[in-house]
Amino acid sequence: MNSKVLFLICFCFVSILLLRSNAPMFSQEQADREASLQAFEKIAEVLRSPRCLNCHPSDDVPRVGDDSHKHLFGVVRGDADHNGPVQKCATCHQKENNTYTKIPGAPHWGLAPIGMGWQGLTDAQLGMILLDQEKNGGRSPEDLVKHMSEDALVKWAWDPGEGRTVPPIPFEEFKQILQTWLSNGAHVPE
Ligand code: HEC
Ligand code: HEC
Repeated sequence: MNSKVLFLICFCFVSILLLRSNAPMFSQEQADREASLQAFEKIAEVLRSPRCLNCHPSDDVPRVGDDSHKHLFGVVRGDADHNGPVQKCATCHQKENNTYTKIPGAPHWGLAPIGMGWQGLTDAQLGMILLDQEKNGGRSPEDLVKHMSEDALVKWAWDPGEGRTVPPIPFEEFKQILQTWLSNGAHVPE
């Protein structure tokens, strides 16, 4: 056999091998990123639902209802996100929903710190602020997923008491979506 032909055959063979080994790796990485970003889109839908957003305002006033109107009684953030020394959140908000007064309740009821305010953010801004450890209470992506899967105030959103709507995705599904987001690299849009 002519050496040129032999070289060409070898070249083709090696190229095919290289392509076969590289192509799937590259597209797997892309697919993971895509899966993570798609999961984040759904997570953002939940974070933007009034049950979450009402406690995560970008100013000092908790919000109420699906139209997120300002809280009555002049309730504001106060020094430690639990209102002033006299009128603490826990004065009215007990550890569970009150069926008589209709005041919602859950353990450690309070306003999310100002750095965790999410009102009016795009998905990209929301992702950035969520992953920012200076603002999110020093949490890794794993910690964020744990918080959103277990925290009493988060869970309250799916059991908010009579007359209040719940987030757009069922809680069990939300937890799975959080895992999908995390296991595929915890990507957020740029
Ligand atoms: C009753 C008020 C309240 C509700 C309702 C609430 N949160 Fe929060 N959230 C807080 C407070 C207070 C903190 C800060 C506590 C901490 O850092 O442990 C917080 C912190 C967080 C954090 C971690 C910090 C950050 O912003 O990165 C996440 C994530 C979060 N909440 C998600 C949610 C989601 C999702 C919902 C709705 C399903 C929700 N929260 C509903 C009050 C609330
Ligand atoms: C004087 C009593 C009182 C105090 C103090 C108080 N609240 Fe409320 N809060 C209420 C009542 C009553 C409602 C129900 C209003 C309604 O559903 O129309 C309510 C509703 C809410 C809701 C609405 C939940 C939703 O998604 O619709 C949030 C959030 C909230 N309070 C946060 C707080 C925070 C945070 C504090 C402390 C900084 C606080 N409240 C202090 C009485 C109080």
